[in-house]
Amino acid sequence: MPDESTQTPLTHLQTRVSHPRLTEPGPSRDQLDELYRAAFRAPDHAWLRPWRFIEVGGDKRTQLGEWMAESVRAEQPDLDEKQITKLLNAPLRAPLVLIAWARITEHPKVPPIEQILATGAACTNLVNAAHAQGLGAIWRTGTAAYSPGLRARLGLDTDDVLVGFIYLGTPAGEDKPIPELDPADFVSRL
Ligand SMILES: Cc1cc2nc3c(=O)[nH]c(=O)nc-3n(C[C@H](O)[C@H](O)[C@H](O)COP(=O)(O)O)c2cc1C
Repeated sequence: MPDESTQTPLTHLQTRVSHPRLTEPGPSRDQLDELYRAAFRAPDHAWLRPWRFIEVGGDKRTQLGEWMAESVRAEQPDLDEKQITKLLNAPLRAPLVLIAWARITEHPKVPPIEQILATGAACTNLVNAAHAQGLGAIWRTGTAAYSPGLRARLGLDTDDVLVGFIYLGTPAGEDKPIPELDPADFVSRL
């Protein structure tokens, strides 16, 4: 982790990395509230506020793992034991998991894709804010994210979209090096 004292808002954005290995402690209530404040400042056409977050911590992570395994197994009966165990244990990889989803509403000017993008932008703000707080985060999806059974378990409507699982906690181990990407590879001029 770079020296916090030299970090500016811009360098926070430029130095975020995902942390696949996370440990206790998870974010405090105050830290979480700050994360949501950052998330809720994402660009949002017509201010529909499509983003929703479900906090899953403590024993509820076991419940979530069971729902993930049960739902994916029902939809993919050939799932092997190793894959089932992986799903069961997935939420235990961090002290806190946020399930991020988009509540899709009908709007004449804001199609569902824009509501999903706004929710994704909220997730991006959130992981960047976590980095600025010195927390570790990683945004994951996987088969469970697209499982109709899990979505139903979580109370989502058929139009709603589960955008990801955001794992939060204290980074374990060294940060990976940040790759230097050349704008010339991604940017053109008309
Ligand atoms: C929508 C979305 C879904 C993702 N799903 C996964 C996932 O299931 N598993 C995973 O290891 N990384 C997933 N990632 C990528 C990680 O969040 C992370 O960006 C990636 O490991 C690269 O690391 P970095 O963020 O440090 O550059 C996903 C990212 C996004 C935006």
